[in-house]
Amino acid sequence: MSEFPKKLLSLLDKRKTEHNFRTLSLPNTNLIDFSSNDYLGFAKSAELKELKDAIVKEYDIQQQGSTGSRLITGNSLIYTDCEKQVAAFHQAEKALLFNSGYDANVGLLSSVPQRGDVVMYDELCHASIIDGIRLSFANAYKFRHNDLAHLKELLAKQKNRETVYVVTESVFSMDGDCALLKEITDLCKQHKAYLIVDEAHAIGVYGEQGRGLCNELGIEQDCFARVYTYGKAMGAHGACVVGSKDLYDYLVNFARSLIYTTALPASSVALVMASYKLLQSTKQIKALKESINLFNELTIPIKDKINSTSAIHCFVIKGNENVIKASQELTAKGFDVRAIKSPTVKEGIERLRICLHSTNNKNEITGLTKELNGYLK
Ligand SMILES: Cc1ncc(COP(=O)(O)O)c(C=O)c1O
Repeated sequence: MSEFPKKLLSLLDKRKTEHNFRTLSLPNTNLIDFSSNDYLGFAKSAELKELKDAIVKEYDIQQQGSTGSRLITGNSLIYTDCEKQVAAFHQAEKALLFNSGYDANVGLLSSVPQRGDVVMYDELCHASIIDGIRLSFANAYKFRHNDLAHLKELLAKQKNRETVYVVTESVFSMDGDCALLKEITDLCKQHKAYLIVDEAHAIGVYGEQGRGLCNELGIEQDCFARVYTYGKAMGAHGACVVGSKDLYDYLVNFARSLIYTTALPASSVALVMASYKLLQSTKQIKALKESINLFNELTIPIKDKINSTSAIHCFVIKGNENVIKASQELTAKGFDVRAIKSPTVKEGIERLRICLHSTNNKNEITGLTKELNGYLK
């Protein structure tokens, strides 16, 4: 076998010395889950499985794989029915399914902004948003996290002839805080910019029946595009971009991550439909809100906490070594809490990231917050 390039080896070594070498370890299932994105417990829900099985039966799904891309042989009635339901639920003209949230963001952001256009995005946006923007030929500027004055300043600099897109997440994945969506919407209106919102961590958490933060704030119709992912609170896989019929047609024609990939199998689409059905009962959403309220109450004394009303709660502990140590101590006490290290976040603001669930009971939350209060006092 040929020798592995030395410069790549040195990059791996650098990761090791900086305590941020990544490995694919198996999760310890004996721990109490404070790290998965399964906020509503859907991924393990027997109710969800039953709903999915019923849909598989209804559509008489026999085939395992989808056999091709949506534009060739991968499309089927269940896809179009699912997209109709998603569009209606999220009050959009059209919805388009992608294989993952990563694919949805890359497809949308690489194809929509054109050469000469401008994209402004919050500096904490997810890698899939950044990768999509990088693949486009537009000029991109990041604004400081949730800094409206900075966004306003950047918008004011744009010339009238340029098409401007503003991109943000509604809930930030590594901080758990929310974008100032109302204010951003107003700025977009003033400057005739197109707003794109990634609702990955807001679906199932905010809004009527978990419709997301845009719904809660009444700004759904002000968005050019919204992205809903299904691998988090929905306990499934895949994602949808929702927007106008023109946006749908455009993405079907130009989004390369939709066109040049094998479609999800019909059974995965059935799971997405089942998740939306289960969401409408709202009992898990209520239980999640209770977990969040209790956790927030019990962590008031901790000063290095990033304010959050979402399922994601972070405590800054400076330095990779220190944050790893903190997560190991909590693991030893039976809590699955992960360290978020640099370079995933900026150096100096490494953190413990805690994900709350509808399934975390009072004892579990009290137990964890007791440890956190002791460790972070
Ligand atoms: C904000 C945000 N958008 C998109 C994604 C990607 O979604 P998926 O896991 O479905 O690829 C993630 C996943 O972590 C995310 O946090």
